[in-house]
Amino acid sequence: MFSIKQIIFLTVLQAIAGHAAPTPRDATPVQAGAAPPASFTANPNIGPGGSNYKDSPHFRIYGGSSSQQDAAIAMLEGAYTCFVDTLGWRSSGLSYNDAQDDGPWTKVNIYAVGSLSGGAAGVMHSDYATGMSWLEVVTSYVATPGVTIHEYGHGLTYHAKNWVDQSRTGAWWETTANFIAETYKNSNLCAAARAKYNQPTGDTEVNLNKVIGDSFQVIVDGTSGSGNYYEAWPFFTFLTNNLDNYASLGANTLLEMWAQYSKGSNETPLHTLARLSTSITVPKLVGRYWARMAYADIGSAQISSAFQSRRSNINYANLDQTGSSGGTTNYRVKSSRQPRYMGSNIIPLKKSGAVTVNVSVTNTSGAFTATLAIRNTSSGTTRYVELVNGSGSTSVANGEEATLVVANTPNLIQYDPFSLSSDVMKGLNYQVAITGATA
Ligand SMILES: *[C@@H]1O[C@H](CO)[C@@H](O)[C@H](O)[C@H]1NC(C)=O
Ligand SMILES: *[C@@H]1O[C@H](CO)[C@@H](O)[C@H](O)[C@H]1NC(C)=O
Ligand SMILES: *[C@@H]1O[C@H](CO)[C@@H](O)[C@H](O)[C@H]1NC(C)=O
Ligand SMILES: *[C@@H]1O[C@H](CO)[C@@H](O)[C@H](O)[C@H]1NC(C)=O
Repeated sequence: MFSIKQIIFLTVLQAIAGHAAPTPRDATPVQAGAAPPASFTANPNIGPGGSNYKDSPHFRIYGGSSSQQDAAIAMLEGAYTCFVDTLGWRSSGLSYNDAQDDGPWTKVNIYAVGSLSGGAAGVMHSDYATGMSWLEVVTSYVATPGVTIHEYGHGLTYHAKNWVDQSRTGAWWETTANFIAETYKNSNLCAAARAKYNQPTGDTEVNLNKVIGDSFQVIVDGTSGSGNYYEAWPFFTFLTNNLDNYASLGANTLLEMWAQYSKGSNETPLHTLARLSTSITVPKLVGRYWARMAYADIGSAQISSAFQSRRSNINYANLDQTGSSGGTTNYRVKSSRQPRYMGSNIIPLKKSGAVTVNVSVTNTSGAFTATLAIRNTSSGTTRYVELVNGSGSTSVANGEEATLVVANTPNLIQYDPFSLSSDVMKGLNYQVAITGATA
């Protein structure tokens, strides 16, 4: 499987560091409903410019061969159609400094280059004078959505404005850029846009060894080398596909997490989500996310099928057995696997035939959400039994499988994923008694 995550570096934080708040412009009447032009204006002064380029309505590609330029344009125009035209995100043609969203409308410049510093495959920059994003992508990756649409995803985040210069959102820029690339590649939300530009429906970049095998980590952990911030994007797939039909969540969730970010507050994206989500608290929502990850049941056929083919290789060694009596087995979470802030343990259960599974999570060191995920192995249908105060029981039929999910879900904490504090690194200690099955 193709994976370029190790070599996609983001320099947006450096690029936007010191990018002062936009200067307020003189008030000009907003032209309600003023439509953008069919083709935006190119500006060769954004980035180094050059003479080898090709234009499309919303982009200019410098460098590369004519066929590479054509391939990049089809992909980028497909992404523009999906995210801006279909999903209503703020246009990448609008300056960061344009408070009225009335133009000018400028093409995004993309430069195909020989190499980038640090071995990066792509980089997003912002141009202070024009308030425009521009991208550099290594030529061999220019038609690879995992690179070019990832970087364009940073551009869309920049043009959406409110996460810029907010350090607690910093690591989340990678999480969301990978979500944007994944959505472009295979989500039904972008299917019409892909068809319009004759783009294939791609496979998934999901890294299940990381997302599930290391689910104990802080939900977005920006630690260099061991963090998960490039891999944690299925949380956005879960929110966007909203299979539980939670009020006010769905296809517009990332857009709203940008739009409703409390300007200049440096809050975490989860704090924004807490205002957005009207029918379920974020701790409970995160608990359901992890319950659904037990069988990768978050509304993506590609992720679901990747899970079925790779599940036998995932590290599920979360518990140590501490004893058993009368059909009940007792366990304690391994100290190295205690779920950290908004992380979880995903614990497949073993059973034979039809059973009643009774689970009791006790002696916990903090707030948690425990759920039994049950899957019909022939239809793939899932159901979720939330354990009240850690306890509950359910029958599991012969053709069903069950997984216990325990998530560390305290009240929200303001934290910087690039500099994890002791309160988010604190693991959830717990014990669990299981009857009718074993871990
Ligand atoms: C489940 O286990 C708990 C604690 O071990 C016990 O109190 C409860 O009666 C059990 N419930 C069922 C339905 O077996
Ligand atoms: C509960 O957990 C604590 C550690 O968090 C441990 O010291 C204590 O022995 C446990 N209690 C029982 C009854 O096992
Ligand atoms: C599982 O799904 C199959 C196929 O849809 C169905 O026939 C069966 O009844 C289901 N099993 C349970 C326990 O719901
Ligand atoms: C759960 O625990 C809380 C606090 O101990 C208690 O008030 C509540 O009644 C319990 N709920 C159930 C259903 O046992």
